[in-house]
Amino acid sequence: AVERTLSIIKPDATRRNLTGRINAKFEEQGLRIVAQKRIRLTREQAEAFYAVHRERPFFGGLVAFMTSGPVVVQVLEGEDAVARNREIMGATDPAKAAPGTIRKEFAENIEANSVHGSDSAENAAREIAFFFSEIEIVG
Ligand code: CMP
Repeated sequence: AVERTLSIIKPDATRRNLTGRINAKFEEQGLRIVAQKRIRLTREQAEAFYAVHRERPFFGGLVAFMTSGPVVVQVLEGEDAVARNREIMGATDPAKAAPGTIRKEFAENIEANSVHGSDSAENAAREIAFFFSEIEIVG
């Protein structure tokens, strides 16, 4: 089915001016960018977005990293968009990511891993609503 998923191009990637090369991978592999904005997350926003990871040992570092520079938040649309985007991104740890994936080609390490993508349709709906109103999403 046609789905939507939430994607974030992270500060390690915006810092290296990789937004266009990452977006090309989404578009070449069947996803359409139907909403997109470049923002600087506040600490409060990053903590709220990643609240599910609050008890994890990497939480503090993750929030510091995600607020260290601009991010590009986007809604990607396409057939099985949640799973397809996870394939395009590759494994969370770039050392384990398959050849040709965004994280294999661009990620610096498991934290500075260039992109975030929703892990389920339920979380996609929640994460899209966190950043976008319906009128900002143009399919
Ligand atoms: P993301 O898909 O955005 O979800 C949680 C993020 O935490 C992850 O990508 C990484 O940026 C970061 N992170 C840092 N350390 C770890 C770790 N050991 N395991 C999983 N995620 C980590």
